[in-house]
Amino acid sequence: MMTNEEKYKLFEEKSKQAEMGGGAARLEKQHAAGRLSARERIDLLVDPGTFVEFDKFVVHRTTNFGMDKNKFMGDGVVSGYGKVDGRLIYLYAQDFTVFGGSLSRTNADKIIKVTKLAMKNGSPIIGLNDSGGARIQEGVQSLAGYADIFWLNTKASGVVPQISAILGPCAGGAVYSPALTDFIFMVKDTSYMFVTGPDVVKSVTNEDVTKKELGGAVTHNTKSGVAHFMAEDDAASIMSIRELLSFLPSNNMDSAPRKKSSDPIDRIDKKLDQLVPADPNKPYDIKDLIHSIVDDSYFYEVQEHYAQNMVIGYGRMDGKTVGFVANQPAFYAGVLDIESSIKAARFVRFCDAFNIPLITLVDVPGFLPGTVQEYGGIIKHGAKLLYAFAEATVPKITLITRKAYGGAYDVMNSKHIGADVNFAYPSAEIAVMGAAGAVNILYRGLEGEELTKTVDEYTDTFANPYKAAEMGYIDEIIMPHETRKKLIQALEMTENKSEQNPAKKHGNIPL
Ligand code: HXC
Repeated sequence: MMTNEEKYKLFEEKSKQAEMGGGAARLEKQHAAGRLSARERIDLLVDPGTFVEFDKFVVHRTTNFGMDKNKFMGDGVVSGYGKVDGRLIYLYAQDFTVFGGSLSRTNADKIIKVTKLAMKNGSPIIGLNDSGGARIQEGVQSLAGYADIFWLNTKASGVVPQISAILGPCAGGAVYSPALTDFIFMVKDTSYMFVTGPDVVKSVTNEDVTKKELGGAVTHNTKSGVAHFMAEDDAASIMSIRELLSFLPSNNMDSAPRKKSSDPIDRIDKKLDQLVPADPNKPYDIKDLIHSIVDDSYFYEVQEHYAQNMVIGYGRMDGKTVGFVANQPAFYAGVLDIESSIKAARFVRFCDAFNIPLITLVDVPGFLPGTVQEYGGIIKHGAKLLYAFAEATVPKITLITRKAYGGAYDVMNSKHIGADVNFAYPSAEIAVMGAAGAVNILYRGLEGEELTKTVDEYTDTFANPYKAAEMGYIDEIIMPHETRKKLIQALEMTENKSEQNPAKKHGNIPL
């Protein structure tokens, strides 16, 4: 019979062995590929000493292909809970050194266990993905494991924030768990995501494409919009996750943590009076406005490289998290198109689900015309943004800095679709369309002096905020330099807003 000392020693040995994952040689290969191990990543993600591991001794139950003699404790995923800035999070990290981090039945069950705990206890779930996909030796059991995770991701959606980092391969159906989560982080050069890899692409479509071109971080951050963030390496990506978490509440019943700032709430910025050019065709950077008004000029941008005609992200005002949605006049004149509508709509829905007030900054010439947009379904995609704003019940504040033309005026969180406070600068132009276009339709054929005179007349009549203010569609016209103070006042005034949508199973957003 073993003594207690021997039992404790055995436990320690087993525990150490489990922490070795697939062994030193595979770990070396992982490092050589520019990637960290699952445990190294967890150490970076959580506050020191806070990680508690579950299911360390779990092994797979497969016997096919000699697998009964090939087992590693933990079975290719490290899971448990820990703290980020003192706040509880749940996590799992796929361990590529064990069967390529591939998903077995037991491996899936570990992920499911922590996800269920996250939902029950109301804290975010973070998945660090690095996997060769379905555990080939397990066949349908692995597919079942994936589907169980997808089902749970869907149930958890809107209950707790779900965050995915792609830190290695993520291919085939495996992409759909990250895709169902709220935010995807990728690492330049060492991570990729695709439904079918380059070889299959070649055989089906005869296209030659590399893994990186097909599904690397740059592709998904600039072209597809699948990912939200891109970092140089694992460590930078994980630091960015910590940063994002600092802006988010732990669950849908909670509010975001408040981070006190010494930045005065009534700080004025005279430079803002010069930001918006008088010439409506001249661009300016809406991020200059955002940086000027948020606490300590700190803005955490989401999907920075995708659909840059729309800027989304988080900042704090008087210490509280705010979601910003802003047309970007510096890029395609801030026009609304398919990609920018989808980008903003998903962001608005996340903020609404997690009690984050929205500030919308408007300078939009309208929807982008053309066959590419119409054939691509700009009608239904633009409707997504309309729907998202209309459905959102969090405090919603809008500021029109310059152009608010046509349908885009309505869509960009106008009073009519439920904004609580609507501001405009004296430079705002709220009209059906720009003066030149309007005159061309109303008085076709006008030329020379007569044309200039009519355009001026239209500009004087409509290209200002006063018609809308007369109707009460704009609550207050404000000077640019007082923007921060005015927005903070509005946020404070709406802080206890309580509004419910009509009872229903769920709405039918135009997908
Ligand atoms: C079991 C796997 C595995 C898998 C890799 N390994 N993928 N074991 N099931 N899916 C093992 C390898 O046998 C190897 O074991 C170790 O992991 C490392 O793999 P390498 O190939 O040596 O690494 P690397 O050269 O870096 O290549 C990584 C890779 C490649 C590109 C991911 O391993 C690969 O192509 N794997 C198969 C990918 C795949 O087809 N998966 C199924 C996709 S379909 P040893 O013992 O040598 O270290 C899918 C469907 C999901 O996932 C459906 C959900 C609905």
